[in-house]
Amino acid sequence: MKVTVVGAGNVGASVAEYVAIKDFAAEVVLVDIKEGFAEGKAMDLMQTASLNGFDTTITGVTGDYSKTAGSDVAVITSGIPRKPGMTREELIGINAGIVKQVSENLIKYSPDVTLIIVSNPMDTMTYLAAKATGLPKNRIIGMGGALDSARFKYRLAEALECPSSEVSAMVIGGHSDTGMVPLIEKATRNCVPVSEFLSEDQKSSVVEETKVGGATLTKLLGTSAWYAPGAAVSEMVRAIALDSNKIFPCSVLLDGEYGLDDICIGVPCVIGKNGVEKIIEIELSDAEKAKLTESAAGVKKTNADLASSL
Ligand code: NAI
Ligand code: 2OP
Repeated sequence: MKVTVVGAGNVGASVAEYVAIKDFAAEVVLVDIKEGFAEGKAMDLMQTASLNGFDTTITGVTGDYSKTAGSDVAVITSGIPRKPGMTREELIGINAGIVKQVSENLIKYSPDVTLIIVSNPMDTMTYLAAKATGLPKNRIIGMGGALDSARFKYRLAEALECPSSEVSAMVIGGHSDTGMVPLIEKATRNCVPVSEFLSEDQKSSVVEETKVGGATLTKLLGTSAWYAPGAAVSEMVRAIALDSNKIFPCSVLLDGEYGLDDICIGVPCVIGKNGVEKIIEIELSDAEKAKLTESAAGVKKTNADLASSL
């Protein structure tokens, strides 16, 4: 498999590193606009190959999309990240132009590519990439829910005082502080509903900490996080490479599913060799449905700011 990662910054380099360490791809091409930056990151990462024991080849290029030709998957992380106090939505002005131009360049050289969009505001950037490229909807996937679910499991494991590996839980909805819908009533610890272990107050605080998970890290780091985002993307790429049919909440173009239309927002999807193999419509409670509908209204409001980019 050939994987292109556009943006060799914190998240892009982390994606390249995790993909290489997991050793399922033949080739990773890092692309950045900053002269020599992707080349430098690629060389540094390649010098870990003998130490980390991987055979993946990583190369870096400055803006030369011909080197990305024939990519099976391309991950778009180019753009600016949030600074403390900023929302993801405030990034739209700069990132929309970047994501549109990058996705058009990618499909010129890799018409059969599956795109994974990371740049924020991610649901709106995924919608923009879908409109700009006209790729079939199974091949445009926004990454947010896989990360938010990992953060949800981390907070649940903390409250339950158990390893994260015992926890099964999912966040759907928009990838924003107000739009995330952590499905707490469906979360389990080794098949036992978490409500058996946690009080209503504990559950509420897990949900609130999950929703501001990105902001908490941005405040601590001075920029947004990269390890968990990189790991989340690499797991989605691996599911495509190995055709493993794993379920991740992904931002995908909906056409009536969950009563939503003409919007990209996080819902559970089976990910395999064709990208989104299936959107799963799980039974939501009335409260969960109301939260998803409210989240969708927020994403549509942000999408409206795209008017000049579409
Ligand atoms: P960063 O600033 O470390 O890296 C961004 C890179 O993109 C820079 O190296 C920059 O030179 C490059 N770039 C800018 N314009 C470009 C273009 N036209 N072509 C190629 N490269 C270009 O930022 P970081 O932390 O890697 O974040 C990247 C994006 O991912 C941000 O928008 C951030 O908000 C988003 N993000 C999304 C997450 C999600 O769950 N969806 C999680 C974490 C970050
Ligand atoms: C995150 O959730 C800011 O989307 C980025 O870390």
